Amino acid sequence: MSASSEHRPLAVVVLAAGKGTRMKSALPKVAHLVLGRPVVGWVLAHAAPLMATSTIVVVGHGAEDVEAALPAGTSTAVQESQRGSGDALAAALPQLADFTGDVLVINGDGALFSTATMQAVVDEHRAHRAAASALAIRSDDDLPYGRIISDMDGKLLRIVEAADASPEELAVRDLNAGVYCFDAATLRDAVPRLDARNAQGELYITDLLAIASGDGGTTRAVVTGDAEELLGINTRADLAIVEEVLQRRINTQHMLNGVTMSQPATITIEPDVRIGADTVILPGCALRGATTIGAGTTIGPRTTLVDTHVEDGAGIVESTCLQARVGRNASVGPYAYLRPDTILSEDAKVGTFVELKKTQLGPRSKVPHLSYIGDATVGSDSNIGAGNITANYRPELGRGKQPTTIGSGVRTGSDNVFVAPVTIGDGSFTGAGSIIVQDVPAGSLAIARARQVNLQDYAQRLAQPDTTREHSGDSPNRSHAADGVIGTAASDQHE
Ligand code: UD1
Ligand code: MG
Repeated sequence: MSASSEHRPLAVVVLAAGKGTRMKSALPKVAHLVLGRPVVGWVLAHAAPLMATSTIVVVGHGAEDVEAALPAGTSTAVQESQRGSGDALAAALPQLADFTGDVLVINGDGALFSTATMQAVVDEHRAHRAAASALAIRSDDDLPYGRIISDMDGKLLRIVEAADASPEELAVRDLNAGVYCFDAATLRDAVPRLDARNAQGELYITDLLAIASGDGGTTRAVVTGDAEELLGINTRADLAIVEEVLQRRINTQHMLNGVTMSQPATITIEPDVRIGADTVILPGCALRGATTIGAGTTIGPRTTLVDTHVEDGAGIVESTCLQARVGRNASVGPYAYLRPDTILSEDAKVGTFVELKKTQLGPRSKVPHLSYIGDATVGSDSNIGAGNITANYRPELGRGKQPTTIGSGVRTGSDNVFVAPVTIGDGSFTGAGSIIVQDVPAGSLAIARARQVNLQDYAQRLAQPDTTREHSGDSPNRSHAADGVIGTAASDQHE
């Protein structure tokens, strides 16, 4: 940052009122999400470190949707009808009527402008005490962007839209990226002088440069930035490319911070995610929202974490976790689903085809296989058998879900149903196949299933002709015999 920039106030105006017709969307272009953040949110996030004294977003087309996409407390100005980028800037001027300093104007679809590039535009504008400056990015690709025409001394003469340009002008390689810096007084003087005599019949912000230059002010093309920053979003194809670029930037930063990634192009990490060093992220993961991951964890492959907190040393394989907490050295998956308010303590384990919802699993406790545990608390060192289910919804008891409380050191049998509300005491056991409807006292064994009955020589008896059976005098109930096994067994169960 140059010395002068520290004393001159900076205002930021983001132009976000355009229709974005080429998106073919009911949602305004700048409200579309890229890695979970609206396009205009990216512009604001990249501008935030500039420490502007005021930031104004100009909204218009789909204003409500755009406003909803903005961070709370963002100031907006309304462009009533979309008459071009120059008219959009005009809509912000009343709020800058008393402002002295520089105004950085950024296209709202420029999600890729880095903070460094924005800062460079401000710094160079100030270093030259310029009236108006524009970011020029050099590209040999024949892109449909404005061409920045400068003289031999580096004075910016004008910006010509591709649609209005002559072949000679189109050959110019300095492309107008959509970031401008203006002295506020220059802006107030020049904006009312814009006209719409151009191919699109719009008021172009780009014409402000020619006006300022014609008035004899210093006007500069700030040639900096990476060609990929040029990419505004006009179509959904652009949106996908922008996402790819931002994803690569985010992933690279994590790798530089000490995170290992296998096939990073397949890994989606949203901007607010935090990851500790020596964590390994395997292919196909999506880490979203306010997810935080500790050090030395292994995540993936193909794991989705949303607003989830993972502590050091944990491992999560092929699983989905929403608003969950995975404790130190805990292990999850493959194929587990942790739903909101699930908390795994250290060394806990959630295995294969297991769904947990609003459940706390104490230290070293395990739910290894094929279970649904919801609205439950499990103490430490307990093992939940394969195929256990908490029946937590009891409409006869009211709308809410009913709790299951399982103590510490409990061993539940395979294929248990816990009909909540129910409490399983510390150190107790439950038999396989039990449907537990009553509390189980600590240290006891609960068995809640039908007692098994074996009918001796049953197959042999079935094979005998009816006549023989009648003579033998020990036939099963005749009427049930016709129904086969079920009828016979049912009649015998009453013994
Ligand atoms: C604009 C520039 C072009 C530059 C390109 C870079 C103009 C005239 N041209 O072209 O030189 O190379 O960006 O991406 O500005 N907007 C409004 N209200 C309007 C019209 C536009 O707020 O009435 C906003 C849009 O939301 C957008 C920005 O202004 O953020 C630029 O508009 P857009 O239609 O994207 O202009 P381009 O044709 O891309
Ligand atoms: Mg554009």
